[in-house]
Amino acid sequence: MKRMITRIAFQDAATFASPLLTVFAVDIAIGKEATPLPTLLTTSDTISDAAAAFLTGGEFKASVGETLLLHAPSGLKCERLLIVGLGKAKLLSPHQVRLGAGTAIRTAKLKSIRNCAIAFPEDRSLSDEALEDLPCSQTTRALVEGAYIADFDPDTYSTDRKDKSIDVLSVVSSTPERSTQMEIQEGFAEGNILGTSIAFTQALVNEPGNVLTPTVLGGRAKAMCIEFGIQCEVYSTPKLKELGMGAFLGVTQGSAEPPALIVMTYDPPSAPAAGTPVFGLVGKGITFDTGGISIKGADGMEKMKYDMAGAAAMIGAMRAIAQLKPAARVISVVCSAENMPSGTAYKPGDVLTAMSGKTIEVMNTDAEGRLVLADGLHYAKQLGATQLIDAATLTGACVVALGVNNAGLFSNDEATCEAFQTAMRRAGESFWRLPCTDDYKEYIKSSIADIMNTGMNRWGGAISGAMFLKEFVGDTPWIHLDIAGVAWVENQRSYIAKGPSGVAVRSIVEWVRELSPKP
Ligand code: BES
Ligand code: ZN
Ligand code: ZN
Repeated sequence: MKRMITRIAFQDAATFASPLLTVFAVDIAIGKEATPLPTLLTTSDTISDAAAAFLTGGEFKASVGETLLLHAPSGLKCERLLIVGLGKAKLLSPHQVRLGAGTAIRTAKLKSIRNCAIAFPEDRSLSDEALEDLPCSQTTRALVEGAYIADFDPDTYSTDRKDKSIDVLSVVSSTPERSTQMEIQEGFAEGNILGTSIAFTQALVNEPGNVLTPTVLGGRAKAMCIEFGIQCEVYSTPKLKELGMGAFLGVTQGSAEPPALIVMTYDPPSAPAAGTPVFGLVGKGITFDTGGISIKGADGMEKMKYDMAGAAAMIGAMRAIAQLKPAARVISVVCSAENMPSGTAYKPGDVLTAMSGKTIEVMNTDAEGRLVLADGLHYAKQLGATQLIDAATLTGACVVALGVNNAGLFSNDEATCEAFQTAMRRAGESFWRLPCTDDYKEYIKSSIADIMNTGMNRWGGAISGAMFLKEFVGDTPWIHLDIAGVAWVENQRSYIAKGPSGVAVRSIVEWVRELSPKP
């Protein structure tokens, strides 16, 4: 994969030579009805003067995602000045900068500009209070992340693909303060780690099912682990049998493609003190979900190649963790298989015995994700995980409940869930908590076995999925992320192409860091 080169320049953005310089703008008018007062987030008079006439004209309001392009701006070294709106000044946060940087990159790509610069948001006119919400390190990190996410385009296999990926991104800051420069540098380094890891996840999710089989996914994970110096084992059917992973095996048996059980382990540079959490990151890696014998309809089935987005998020998170080096052990278990109908496929009515010993009545072979995760979660616990998190494109019901703006969040532990919510806010991602209290247990009660793999009816389908998983985590604090609605962007936005979103990587990494001992 060709990589965007990123660099920092500490100089006045007005003197920075570039085909395209982006400067952010906010609306400082107070109140909903007020006439917008777009203001550039720069301390450079030259830049402000160059744009003044366009900002006072009323046509640019600095609303989120709005852009204004000026050619040959007077007094500036850049060939074009792109002004990107970040919305109301009062609502300014690093996340707005993430989206703004994404908008800048998408705009540059549309114009086949491969070398661009973004001026770090600096300000004179905002109150101290507003600036407090824009810490340098976090803001730089968000800016770089947003740029990588936006640089991704899904047309990998188009033969007349005009590779419009960005070659060079420069972040330009005029700050003379050494300490601020160091903060910006720190955020820049983190942004590069997270940004490239999210792009890695996006690339995996984008792959078609015929290319990215479970074996190939295992190979990609292994190569990544070798590159970043963490352990990785990729197992297949014999190991699943040895471990007694009856639920996972049930799903795999209809496919000619062998499954992959991918186990990645990160160990911190020095041995953690006793009592330090061990994280277990479990991902659903169905490389194609036909539904199996309970086959899906033809409409939209091609999208089921992204049914491994949970796995890809975990692999991407491990890629970032290997570089950020938190002071705790992190184990990731990815369960990858194809869900196919065939003469050897598992059938509705079959009873499977999970690794934990629990028996499962298969009501619907299309509820396969929870089956592979059941064994993955149990195995992660057996490997020593004391904090579990799983990510899965688990249910259409979650999409019905929350749409595409929020993913589902479930947890059996308040402290762990709060830590995750703190992490997701910092990461700028949206997960909405749904219940999985024991009163829902009756939904998955089976008459022949311990539990069944669907709810008794269609009501609360996302919750039934979570309740099923909960059966396999026991007392271990656990988070379940149902990313079915958010892993694939159906309608492109100003900051992201139609295609894989790379969701959950940032929140998972941030959660691990939140609960790890601080240096
Ligand atoms: N992979 C699907 C869920 C899904 C739906 C992902 C839409 C992305 C977009 C999952 O395996 C599935 O088919 N779930 C069933 C469960 C049902 C049979 C209980 C569903 O949601 O319909
Ligand atoms: Zn399914
Ligand atoms: Zn599925």
